[in-house]
Amino acid sequence: MKPFAFAPLIVLLWGSFAHALDAEQRHGQSLLEQMCSRCHAVGPTGSSPNKLAPPFRHLGENKLYDPDFVQRLQDGYSSIHRAMPTFRFDRESAEAVASYLKAIQTKKH
Ligand code: HEC
Repeated sequence: MKPFAFAPLIVLLWGSFAHALDAEQRHGQSLLEQMCSRCHAVGPTGSSPNKLAPPFRHLGENKLYDPDFVQRLQDGYSSIHRAMPTFRFDRESAEAVASYLKAIQTKKH
């Protein structure tokens, strides 16, 4: 059997989503998975473990394209909701996170 016969299949299985993300966005995704995934759905599918926490793909463009959003991630992002702890990102990580979040937004059904 040819050694690379399965390569196209693997690419298909990973899906177009993984390939649509650049290195910075994948960095943002892994930060969010470490820090936020116990409450929020981080990826393009699935529901949040914490039912009150919105899936990240539904945050909405108004919030993400707010010029303050990246700044707020650096200053310590804390929601008005007390269930959510405060997080701080350095500038590079904040931009990576924002870039990832913009990439996965989908319309609410
Ligand atoms: C302990 C659970 C928990 C963790 C961990 C958590 N969140 Fe949340 N988050 C919530 C809940 C609950 C809400 C809904 C709060 C509300 O809008 O009233 C929320 C809402 C949000 C919102 C929308 C509301 C707003 O204030 O803009 C954003 C954006 C958000 N979280 C980002 C994050 C990020 C980024 C992380 C990781 C760095 C994170 N969350 C980690 C529980 C959590």
